[in-house]
Amino acid sequence: MAYETLIVEIEDYTCLIRLNRPDALNALNAQLMTELAQAVTAADRNDKVRCIVITGNEKAFAAGADVKEMASKGFTEVFFDNLFGPEAEAISRARTPIIAAVSGYCLGGGCELAMICDFILAADSAKFGQPEINLGICAGMGGTQRLTRFVGKSKSMDMHLTGRFMDAAEAERAGLVSRVFPAKSLMEETLKVAAKIAEKSMITAMIVKEAVNRAQETTLAEGLLFERRMFHASFATEDQKEGMAAFLEKRQPQFRDR
Ligand code: HXC
Repeated sequence: MAYETLIVEIEDYTCLIRLNRPDALNALNAQLMTELAQAVTAADRNDKVRCIVITGNEKAFAAGADVKEMASKGFTEVFFDNLFGPEAEAISRARTPIIAAVSGYCLGGGCELAMICDFILAADSAKFGQPEINLGICAGMGGTQRLTRFVGKSKSMDMHLTGRFMDAAEAERAGLVSRVFPAKSLMEETLKVAAKIAEKSMITAMIVKEAVNRAQETTLAEGLLFERRMFHASFATEDQKEGMAAFLEKRQPQFRDR
């Protein structure tokens, strides 16, 4: 499918989705969010995709929702349109692992999009922020909820109330980002991480994704029970037999997603 605001390439079982509105620092307008939800949904259904990477360019992952598009809207319009709700939910429903590869500005809705992904790899140039307060609005695609779960109440309040940016080193220290790479090697390193995930059993990767996400969504007791049952269920797969046999035979496993 041809997209106007994205560049999508599938290679070696990785679907690389590049946000492509460079003149607006990849600001998220309605068209981009619609296309992104379509691209992620299509990749999630594609047997040739075992990992999805969402990225921007060197200057910006995304500098937030498109202020030019939003500025004149009123409450009734954004409420009836449920602005960005369905698109964000479609992306968060994907069962395929999604990595956000972030260089440069990752602000407002851009930071929220990165947090919808399963984990964030950042360039040392990355700058994260939730500056919506400067526009007289609050975050609207999960920022107050997800950032608080990533970095805790104190830093989340600081970010949302002051609108300041945090650099990649602070984001890594705070647990928002899993790893930081020099900007020039971010994509190469990200594609290596995606290839590593793509080697795994897809069933097991989906189980892991569901189980880790439970940690954010339920009580510890419920999450532990869910994880234990998924652990038990994984013994019903051929990939469990293959993974353990390969270990005992000192060879690489050949997973078949069964
Ligand atoms: C629309 C944007 C934009 C945005 C940048 N641009 N951010 N357009 N929406 N969010 C446009 C600028 O208008 C400009 O276009 C071009 O991109 C380059 O930006 P500059 O400001 O000239 O670049 P620079 O001086 O380097 O400053 C970079 C910046 C600044 C610090 C990132 O652009 C900025 O503060 N942007 C807004 C960040 C923000 O407030 N994000 C939150 C948005 S609200 P022209 O045409 O002038 O060249 C939000 C709510 C989410 O995200 C809730 C639900 C999704």
